[in-house]
Amino acid sequence: MAEFARDHGSRGTRVVLITSGGTKVPLESRTVRFLDNFSSGRRGSASAEYFLRAGYAVIFLHRHRSMYPYSRRYTSHNWLDTLRLVPSSDASGHQVQVQQSQLPDIVRVLQEYSSMKESGRLLPVEFNTLSDYLHLLQAAAQAFSPLGSNAMFYLAAAVSDFYIPASEMPEHKIQSSSGPLQITMKMVPKMLSPLVKEWAPKAFVISFKLETDPSILIERARKALATYSHQVVVANVLDSRRSYVVVVTNTDEANLSVSEEEERLGVEIEEKIIEDIVTRHTSFIGNLDEKSNASKN
Ligand code: PMT
Repeated sequence: MAEFARDHGSRGTRVVLITSGGTKVPLESRTVRFLDNFSSGRRGSASAEYFLRAGYAVIFLHRHRSMYPYSRRYTSHNWLDTLRLVPSSDASGHQVQVQQSQLPDIVRVLQEYSSMKESGRLLPVEFNTLSDYLHLLQAAAQAFSPLGSNAMFYLAAAVSDFYIPASEMPEHKIQSSSGPLQITMKMVPKMLSPLVKEWAPKAFVISFKLETDPSILIERARKALATYSHQVVVANVLDSRRSYVVVVTNTDEANLSVSEEEERLGVEIEEKIIEDIVTRHTSFIGNLDEKSNASKN
C-alpha cells in the first residue's frame, strides 16, 4: 500500500482508500461460528469503478468474496451457463466458447476493466475478520501520510461495533448441549477518531451512516460529523440504499436519488455520489492550498 501510494502520489494522482463489505466477528478461537452482517460490498465496488473513471488511484480494501469492481455485474451468474462446448479438431474434440448474450454489456465492461488494469490504478487488498480490517485500515492510513490532502478515505464498509476479545473467547466450538447461548460482547472503538485526529489529519474523510429508521438518519449523520470532525457523511437507509442517499457536511445537505427511469437505463446511485464527492474533494484541496499560501505571505 505504501509503494502504491508513493508511486501515484509522486505523479500528483489523487488516491482513495475504499473500504467495502461486512466484517466477520469470531465467537470461538478455532472459529466455527461468527457474527456477520448484510453488506454485499456493492456500494464499495461500484464506487471504485467511478473513482477510477474520475482518474483516482484506488486501494480497494474489501471483505474476501464480497463484490469486486467490474465482475460485480455478473455475480448472480453461474459461469458454467455462460459457456458452451463446440466441436473442434483439438485432442479433446471440443473447444469452449463464451455465450456473449449471457453477459450483458460485457464488451464495454471488459474494455474498461482491461484499461484500468493496464493503468495500474487499482490495488485490491482483502480482509476477513474485524481485526484484519482494523489493522489494514491503520496500515493504509500510514501509507497515505505523504499524500496530504490528495488522500481520501471512503469508508463504506459495514464494520461491527461489537466483538469478543481473544482473552475471553472459548478456544473450542461452543457446545449446544450446554443450553441456550449467552454472550457478552465488548464495544469496538470507532476507528474514525484516530484516523481523523492522528493517522491522516490532512486527508479528506468520508464516512457512511446506515440506519433502518429514516426519521433519525440526518440527526445521526450530523452527530458523527460533530464527534469526529471529518468532512462528509453519506447517510443511507437500509431499504432504500440503492436509490437514495444524503451527502451531509457541516454546511449543507445534498439529496441524491436515482429515478425509476434512470434505474431502467442503468444509472447507479454511486455515479452520482462520486461526482458529488470528487467536486467536494477538489474544493477541499483548493481551500487548503489557499490557507497555506496565505500563511506563507
Ligand atoms: O455493501 P452494500 O450491501 O452495498 O451496503 C452499503 C452500506 C449500507 C454498507 C454502506 O452504504 C454503508 O452505509 N456503510 C456503513 C455502515 C455502517 O457501519 O454504519 P455505522 O453507522 O455503523 O458506522 C458509521 C461509520 O463508522 C462507518 O463509516 C464505519 O466505517 C465507521 N466505523 C464503524 C465501526 C467502527 N468500529 N469504527 C468505525 O470507524
